[in-house]
Formats: sequence, C-alpha cells, structure tokens
Amino acid sequence: MPKKIIIAIDGPAGSGKSTAAKNLAKKLGFVYLDTGAMYRAITFLALRNGIVDNPIAVIELTKNIVLKLKFENGLTRVFVNDEEVTEQIRSAEVNSKVSEISAIAQVRQEMVKIQKEQGKNGNIVAEGRDVTTVVFPEADIKIFLTASLDERAHRRFKEFQALNTNITFEEVKANLEKRDRIDSGREVSPLKKADDAIVFDNTGLTPEQDLEFLLEKIKEVLNK
Ligand code: DC
Repeated sequence: MPKKIIIAIDGPAGSGKSTAAKNLAKKLGFVYLDTGAMYRAITFLALRNGIVDNPIAVIELTKNIVLKLKFENGLTRVFVNDEEVTEQIRSAEVNSKVSEISAIAQVRQEMVKIQKEQGKNGNIVAEGRDVTTVVFPEADIKIFLTASLDERAHRRFKEFQALNTNITFEEVKANLEKRDRIDSGREVSPLKKADDAIVFDNTGLTPEQDLEFLLEKIKEVLNK
C-alpha cells in the first residue's frame, strides 16, 4: 500500500461509522481519528466549567487547551491538558449538549486545525461529520456510510436496551429522524455526501461484512 493514505468516513447517526472506522484502522494498522470525541471533550470541559451556554467562553476555552487523542489497542483515549477524559466524554450530559457545541463555527475551526495536523502523518482513518468535505477533501478514499432509518433506529434501540434505558423503539426512531433533519439542515458543516464519496448502504449487514466490503473498495481504489 502506498504511504500516507487518508481514509475519511462520514454518514448519518447510527450508520456504524465508528465501528467501521475502528475496525478498518485496526486491520490496516492505521491511526483512528475520532473527531466526535474532540467535540465531546470540549463539551465536557464546558459543562465542568459552567460555561456550556456561553459560546464566547467556549471558543476562548477551545483556543486555550491542549487536546490529545491516543489510539491504543482499538480504543481512543482522550486527554485534555494531560488529564484523561476518555470515559467522561460519553456521559448523558455530554450527549445532550454536544450538538450545540459542535455547531459553533469557531470551535469547529480550531478542531479542524488539529485534525488536519493529525492527517499530515497519513495512514489514518478519520471519522465524523465533515471529514470528507471540510477536514480532508483531498482524502484518498471517502466513504459515505448509510443505512435505512429503521435499521439505524434498531441499532440504537439495542444499544439503549443494553443500558437498561426505558425508551421505546418509536421514540428512538423519532429522535433519529429529528437528528437527521437537524444535521442535514444546519448551517455549519451540515451532513452532506462529498461528490466523490463511495456510498455504502449497510442495511442488513454485520460489522464484519462492512469491513470486508470496505477493504475490497480500498484495494480497488488504490490499485487504480
Ligand atoms: O460521533 P459522535 O456521536 O461522537 O459525535 C458527537 C457529536 O459531534 C455529534 O453531535 C456530531 C458532532 N460531530 C461534528 O459535528 N463533527 C464531527 N467531525 C464529528 C462529530
């Protein structure tokens, strides 16, 4: 495989982006860049500092921290100013505020700068909203992963069931539908397929089948 490959994966919530990106990175021995984790880290800090509803203060905070991601044994560890926040960034509070924080244009600018920097070393699988369009428009391979609304809702519903959460399938589906609408319609970096992205609908497929398909596609593209 040639040196310094960038693979970028985007798609709607519940499409299996994270699993696919992690599996690919592991298989290829690449770095996995979880861009969502970065927005989560900022959200966590903003909540802890009591400034989550103050965009100006959040932007200031973003400019003054050192954010580091370490991909080890298939897991991304997240550090802010050398403090590990890997677990804290997955809390319900962070979940409920991260869309607002990630919609602040100047926060995105700062994050994109760090992400581009990470891409310079190549051999990376970057995952998240806008990685195919804004962060790495020059990526060697761009994948837009998707699945039917029903399938994505089923996947999310199963995750909630595993956490013993009292939410119905219909509620999960309605939330997802709403999130699709907000994500696609927002002004800053909306969910949008890059013109040259490979669309992969993985409805009915397992993560193993996803990986097989993606490896095949990557081979095809790189051999062209
Ligand atoms: O993939 P995730 O659930 O960890 O993403 C967390 C939030 O950040 C989600 O609301 C989407 C948003 N996000 C973004 O706006 N841009 C990215 N590059 C990655 C995630």
